[in-house]
Amino acid sequence: MNVLEMLHDPELFGRTFRRNWRGADTWAAWRAFLGMLFGMALDDEARSIASSHTARTDFPSEPFREAFVIVGRRGGKSLISALVATYLACFRDYTEVLAPGEVGTLMVIAADRRQARVIFNYISAFLQTPRLKSMVASQLKESIALDNHVTIEIHTCSFRATRGYTLIGVIADEVAFWSSDNSANPDTEVLSALRPGLATTKGLLLGISSPYAKRGALFHAFRDHFGKPSDVLVWKATSREMNPTLSMATVAAAYARDTASARAEYGAEFRDDVVGFLSLEVIESCVVRGRLELPPLGDVGYAAFVDPSGGSSDSMTLAVAHREHERAVLDLVREVPAPFSPESVVQEFADTLKHYRISTVTGDRYAGEWPREQFAKRGIQYRTAEKTRSELYLELLPALTSGQAELLENKRLIAQLVGLERHTSRLGRDSVDHSPGSHDDVANAAAGALVEALGHEPVYAVLELAKEELAARNAQTVAKRADAIICPKCDWHGVAKRGPIFHCSRCGHEFGGPPKEVGPPPRAGLLERINR
Ligand SMILES: Nc1ncnc2c1ncn2[C@@H]1O[C@H](COP(=O)(O)OP(=O)(O)OP(=O)(O)O)[C@@H](O)[C@H]1O
Ligand SMILES: [Mg+2]
Repeated sequence: MNVLEMLHDPELFGRTFRRNWRGADTWAAWRAFLGMLFGMALDDEARSIASSHTARTDFPSEPFREAFVIVGRRGGKSLISALVATYLACFRDYTEVLAPGEVGTLMVIAADRRQARVIFNYISAFLQTPRLKSMVASQLKESIALDNHVTIEIHTCSFRATRGYTLIGVIADEVAFWSSDNSANPDTEVLSALRPGLATTKGLLLGISSPYAKRGALFHAFRDHFGKPSDVLVWKATSREMNPTLSMATVAAAYARDTASARAEYGAEFRDDVVGFLSLEVIESCVVRGRLELPPLGDVGYAAFVDPSGGSSDSMTLAVAHREHERAVLDLVREVPAPFSPESVVQEFADTLKHYRISTVTGDRYAGEWPREQFAKRGIQYRTAEKTRSELYLELLPALTSGQAELLENKRLIAQLVGLERHTSRLGRDSVDHSPGSHDDVANAAAGALVEALGHEPVYAVLELAKEELAARNAQTVAKRADAIICPKCDWHGVAKRGPIFHCSRCGHEFGGPPKEVGPPPRAGLLERINR
């Protein structure tokens, strides 16, 4: 059975994908996509739809091994992901590619738990149809084992993509919105880790998402393969092109509210107004490898910044930094993930601040009164930041790009800094924020502390003068040594002149003096007599 027969079969999914909107056929675009994806013969209508969404005129007769679908919100992406997953899991024969006892995994990866649940519910519902129900061997919270040695697993993108899976297919839902605190490029990294698992089964990798900024796996696939006779299929369509049941009024209202965002969300255009704020290269050039934290030093004045949180959902973070010449040096970052008791975290942070002899901490201006009271109770003054998060990032930018900031080797900090994006408004004003669904609590505290530190007096200036003087003195000594007399016996510089004789203070050797008279050697016993 091919995927389109499965779609139409009244005993399978015919009811879901029937003519359903004032008798109209609203699934034609998705059928054309599925036909092209699986290398099926397309009729003229399907060819015309397919070529308008792929900008291609070739329609390969082999199934694609890799495909990316760029479709707006509510366009039917998750439902089709679930349908493809069900088709691959239930209607393909893997006896040729699986060793006896080997399990083939169909992996569905979503941007977050909610999206994962949506797809899981769609798949569970498909598997409830009488024809497929008997195939389900067991169903757990995030996986369904079938009786044909295939397991469907649902994950979020933050899972560690372990190698060693035999994969019969990977479906990457909303791949443009994948974010992880432990990785700067979770989409590329997770997909790269999973690709080898598809090699032996010749399984399909399907990325399906609304577009977002011009970066990441989805954008790169679009840039490299859209409109080209490539072995990677890229399909791009607006929400209403794929789902004509979506009301025009909903889309129009979204455009009226925020055109730039609606162009991406419903118009399926990558955003020009959102760009990455800092490249990984810039950040890595500031990271001091192997430096996880710096202990407090006696003669240094430190700055600290805290990003408070009520403890129920966001992390609470603290960073300490100091200035060294023209450079801002990050000494410490601390993050306490939610849930936590705010009072105990303030206590922990206050202890850390005292360790660095810090009596004033700067903090987010939106945090309200409680951090001020809590820190004050523990002898620390909480000063509200004058700058917004976005202003702090923009102010730190020149220090980072010119290498005047030293960062710690902290994975979460690096991932969060890379995840920051710059939005340009229609008035040309820039703002910096984390990408949708990700966090920047660690980056925010670090940026706050570094900017505070840059505003400090360079505490090492005095020390530096002393260092320079020392260096100058050393240079003088070396210069003196250059014309010093060296002992010919032990190479020591410490040779003193005593009258015409040179005396080595290390080995006692004496040399030089007036040239010895040339003549017959003194007679035996003469010297002894003179000395007496
Ligand atoms: N072509 C279509 N014809 C009829 N109904 C459709 C069509 N496409 C999608 N739908 C319906 O639209 C709803 C949204 O589908 P789905 O959750 O798959 O969209 P999505 O693109 O994943 O949305 P989101 O961007 O919000 O994640 C579902 O009820 C689905 O049945
Ligand atoms: Mg969806």
